[in-house]
Parts: sequence; structure tokens; C-alpha cells
Amino acid sequence: MATVGLLGGTGNLGKGLAVHLAKFSEQVMIGSRSEDKAKSVVEEILSEKTNESDFLKVKLHPTSNAVIPAKADTIIATVPFESAVDTVRSLKERFRGDQLFISAAAFLEKKGSEFHSGTGDSISQQIRSILPDSVRLATAFQTVPAVVLYRSDSVEGDVLVSCDEKNTFDACASLIRNIRNLRPLYAGSLAVSGQIEGLTSILLNIGIKNHLKNPTFKVLDRPLEN
Ligand SMILES: NC(=O)c1ccc[n+]([C@@H]2O[C@H](COP(=O)([O-])OP(=O)(O)OC[C@H]3O[C@@H](n4cnc5c(N)ncnc54)[C@H](OP(=O)(O)O)[C@@H]3O)[C@@H](O)[C@H]2O)c1
Repeated sequence: MATVGLLGGTGNLGKGLAVHLAKFSEQVMIGSRSEDKAKSVVEEILSEKTNESDFLKVKLHPTSNAVIPAKADTIIATVPFESAVDTVRSLKERFRGDQLFISAAAFLEKKGSEFHSGTGDSISQQIRSILPDSVRLATAFQTVPAVVLYRSDSVEGDVLVSCDEKNTFDACASLIRNIRNLRPLYAGSLAVSGQIEGLTSILLNIGIKNHLKNPTFKVLDRPLEN
């Protein structure tokens, strides 16, 4: 029943995660650069989720991003990739330590009519170089369609996770498993985080070129019969 803090929790992914994480977290802090904006987004969620509004009112806490690194046990960065590294840099002195940090950011470039993955270090690798060593880091949620997550009770899909330690995967996986029908899959160390971030560009292209709405990935397990 840990406290989860969403940096940039006022956006599509932040709202989608917040309504699910609220079901099993002590509290979910919805962070923003502006506390007033966080308050109005929480009001918006309560007005849209009328069946759950009494419960969400207790669980969702609007706040400034700056408060989250000292208070949350798990911090999820749901800011656009262009601002993710600077956001973490601006908060780096505030982390309590012994926390889990999950980066949902995906490094993209638009080239003509296509999306490509960004070049150079992934967003997660750049964040790793800034975070205190005592904060464990994982990359996750890049392929989860935020709007579906917000609107539905569940999203069927796999969440590819990269991180350097098995216990970081375990902590991240137990959070993901609490969201109905999402399955965490360990994809490798932070060295492969760029490949996971790059899957967002592939999904965007697949959606556009094949007229698919909110595509995601599911890995099939096909054992051979003897
Ligand atoms: N959308 C999806 O389906 C999806 C799925 C998986 C992963 N992701 C990843 O999740 C992240 C968030 O996606 P999103 O669609 O939720 O983004 P978004 O709605 O565009 O933005 C999220 C929040 O980031 C904050 N923000 C915007 N510009 C900022 C800046 N320059 N500096 C600091 N904060 C800023 C804003 O909050 P305040 O104005 O309140 O501060 C905004 O509400 C992205 O990195 C994306 O790659 C998205």
C-alpha cells in the first residue's frame, strides 16, 4: 500500500495510471508544475469517474511535482520525453532515497511522415546518470495506450520492463500486475531501454499506416507439443 507519485500526472498517461493505481495504493499523488492545474485535473477525473468518485476523492492527491521525490515510495515520470530529463534534474536533490523510479517516457523523432526512435542514450539512461544511486530505476509502460487505460477497467497487453536489478523488476512487476490484464515482462537491463522506448514510434506508425486505434503489444508463448 505504498504512495505513488506521478510527475506530470495531469496528462493522458498520468490520469490513466492514477485511476488504476488508486485501487491498491495508499495514495496517488498527481503532480504538476502547477498545483492549481493538478487540483483541476483531479476535479475533472472525479467528475468523469462518477461511479468511483467517493473512493478516488480519498486516494488522489493533487500536488506540485517538487513535493513528490521526498514523499512518494514509487515515482513514475509521465512527462513528455523532451522534458523528462530536465524534470528529473530539477528535482534531483529532493529524492528521499530507497525509492523506485519508473520512466514511461519514449524517445521519438518525427522524420517526414514517420516516427523513429531517438538516437543516442535513451531517456532512462540519461535519467540514471542524474538520479541518486539509492533510487532504483526501471523503464516501463511505453506501449500502454493511455486513453484506453483511463477509460477502461483493464487493458490487455504486455508491459516491457528494463532495469539493472532483479529486485527492481520485481517491485515494478508487482505494481504492473495490480492493473487488470497488464502483464509485466522483463526485457533486459537499462542497456535495452532505448529499444523499449523505440517501440512507441513503431506503434504510432502501425496505428497511422494500418488505421488501427490505440495499438499495443502482446507477446505470445507457443510451447511445442511433442
Ligand atoms: N499517451 C500515451 O498513450 C503514452 C503511452 C505510454 C507512454 N507514454 C509516455 O508517457 C509520457 C507522457 O505522455 P502523455 O501523453 O501523458 O503526455 P502529455 O499529456 O502531453 O503530458 C503529460 C504532462 O507533462 C507535463 N508537461 C508538459 N510539458 C512539460 C514540460 N516542458 N516540462 C515539464 N512538464 C511538462 C504536463 O503537466 P503540467 O502542465 O501539469 O506540469 C502534462 O500534463 C511521454 O513521455 C510518453 O512518451 C505515453
